[in-house]
Amino acid sequence: MKLIIINGPNLNLLGKREPEIYGSKTFEEFFKELQLKFKEVELHYYQSNIEGEIIDKLHEIGFNYDGVILNAGAYTHTSVAIADAISGITTPVIEVHISNVHKRETFRHHSFLSPVCKGVILGFGLKSYELAIQSFL
Ligand code: DQA
Repeated sequence: MKLIIINGPNLNLLGKREPEIYGSKTFEEFFKELQLKFKEVELHYYQSNIEGEIIDKLHEIGFNYDGVILNAGAYTHTSVAIADAISGITTPVIEVHISNVHKRETFRHHSFLSPVCKGVILGFGLKSYELAIQSFL
């Protein structure tokens, strides 16, 4: 099973960024824990703050991986282009959010990505990523 976690803008700041919302662990730390926990999975990780780079990565892996776990950050609420990329690939994508976006500002309530994703997991902190991996197993 070959899966990739793709994180979008500002998620490189996890651990430092608004820890009351996103927690105090860096993603690199958390990713190592995931690799240990899911030894049977070939787990990859990619982060970019740039919309086009996220799209390029989806194109690159989107026909040969078993699944994508995508936290597109704020692009979730703005990007028709990422939604089109998800529609254009064959690898299933699960949309993930650390926070419960529905408890937050109304602009975070709409996702361009949810209608083209296999499923959505949100609001469980970093555990949202773990639940997404489990859903592929
Ligand atoms: C987020 C929620 C988004 O609204 C926000 O822009 C993020 C992080 C989350 O994981 O909770 O950057 O995707």
